[in-house]
Amino acid sequence: MYSTMYSILTVRVSRVVSFALAVCSAQLATTATLSAQSVMPRPIRQETRTGQYLLTGRTVIHTAPAFRRVATRFVRDIADPTGFDLTIANASGAAASGGIHLRRVAGLPREGYKLDVTSARIDIQASDSAGAFYALETVKQLLPPAIYRTAPVAGTTWSVPAVSIEDAPRFPWRGAHLDVARHFSSKGFVKKYIDLLARHKLNRFHWHLTDDQGWRIAIAQYPKLTEMGSCREQTMVGPYQSDPAKRVFDGKRHCGFYTQDDIREVVAYAADRMVTVVPEIEMPGHVQSVIHAYPELSSRPDSAPGVLQIWGVSPFILNPTDASVQFMQNVLREVLTLFPSPWIHVGGDEATKEQWKNNPQIQERIRSLGLKDEHEMQSWFIKQMDTFLTAQNRRLIGWDEILEGGLAPNATVMSWRGMAGGIAAAKSGHDVVMAPGSHTYFDHYQSRDKAREPLAFGGFTPLDSAYAFEPVPPSLTPEEAKHVLGAQAQVWTEYIPNSRQVEYMAYPRLVALSEVLWSPRAARDFSDFRTRLVPHLARLDALDVNYRPLDR
Ligand code: ACM
Repeated sequence: MYSTMYSILTVRVSRVVSFALAVCSAQLATTATLSAQSVMPRPIRQETRTGQYLLTGRTVIHTAPAFRRVATRFVRDIADPTGFDLTIANASGAAASGGIHLRRVAGLPREGYKLDVTSARIDIQASDSAGAFYALETVKQLLPPAIYRTAPVAGTTWSVPAVSIEDAPRFPWRGAHLDVARHFSSKGFVKKYIDLLARHKLNRFHWHLTDDQGWRIAIAQYPKLTEMGSCREQTMVGPYQSDPAKRVFDGKRHCGFYTQDDIREVVAYAADRMVTVVPEIEMPGHVQSVIHAYPELSSRPDSAPGVLQIWGVSPFILNPTDASVQFMQNVLREVLTLFPSPWIHVGGDEATKEQWKNNPQIQERIRSLGLKDEHEMQSWFIKQMDTFLTAQNRRLIGWDEILEGGLAPNATVMSWRGMAGGIAAAKSGHDVVMAPGSHTYFDHYQSRDKAREPLAFGGFTPLDSAYAFEPVPPSLTPEEAKHVLGAQAQVWTEYIPNSRQVEYMAYPRLVALSEVLWSPRAARDFSDFRTRLVPHLARLDALDVNYRPLDR
């Protein structure tokens, strides 16, 4: 049914486009038709009706008290492009009037909404704030793309096509990660990145704050983490070279970190847009910046490695002593005061075990703790964090290597080396976020013609691969599949030196992933998606997103 409806409309869209250039009066209807057919991600059910609602400076938003904050966000967001300062009123007593009505009703799915637009009014129902927020994001998409600008565009009429929409997400975890350790992103850009997630109904921002090449979060108890760990003296440029003699460096210091006030600002900004910020503090590997600042935590205290200047996996790893456990728990204690997220990510990936193998004291510790090998040693370390976080009412999440020496009791697994780790975790009753390199690593190339693309990590994940991703593997029973919370994109920044390039790598692939995570599986159709993406790009243009152009 969907495909018939959409293919008819697709034809209409392209015909209308050619008319629009010539016939001024047709422009309103054109814009309305285009926006109605390109709500991204696609709603579960959408029927286009005749007519349109005209938003004006006199439109009143009648809201249930629970949705007042969401209504306020909407009024602020549309104030600059429209020049309107809409009034927000209480819902009571206004049931029959025109305007926008936000009603709270029980029984709708979490984050879901119903949206009915007629020429007289806009009716929104939701059972939670996220649902009301997403309904208003849909309303924005139904408006002309100029709604995303920051100053009025002359001659724009703010009409919303009449539609009836019922919508709710397929998965609760719809995310994107950003590595700010390899290349630092300003607080302002992080907010823009979060804002773009919210506009695509994505709700998790995984903030990769620490790594070998930089520590980016101020920790009051350990000031040297940022004093020493947030700068590297120079950075390898060009393609990766395994032969050190062939490596080329830029000779420039690369620095950056967020103060705790910066973090609070970003977290509040995200919360206002229904995005949970999941911080990642890497351990026991990916800690060369930590060891530069606090060498006493190293498994090789005789060696001073500095903050890493190249890409790839560092051999440096925390010494798994009680002092290292205490240090990392103290770091997490401050992290918990900043991030209300139920999940705290502790990394756990790519922790090379050579230094543990070669250190007799660490071998003795493995024996004295009754552990079998270095993998169990890592699991022991991660379990100390799990116990600590569980006692604070939070949940540990880590990359799938945390499975290797036995999974901590309350851990959630983020499966990046394919889906196998996620499958194993789900089968043993643990929650899982799918993040496989094959489909969700947006640091991979978007074209086979690499010469025409910016230098990237490698790989090949074009738009249609991102769109084809299926987070629930067929080998899971329906009961096990409930442990798949969802999925997320990874944007590792070794080869992404600035925010324009982050956007180039993330978009439009994140639009595709948003539809994978939000919309019903049965309705997925790449060629239809691609058609709908064309008018959506006008929104990204207005939002100043440096997306990769579509292949012809
Ligand atoms: C990873 O890509 N090392 C999680």
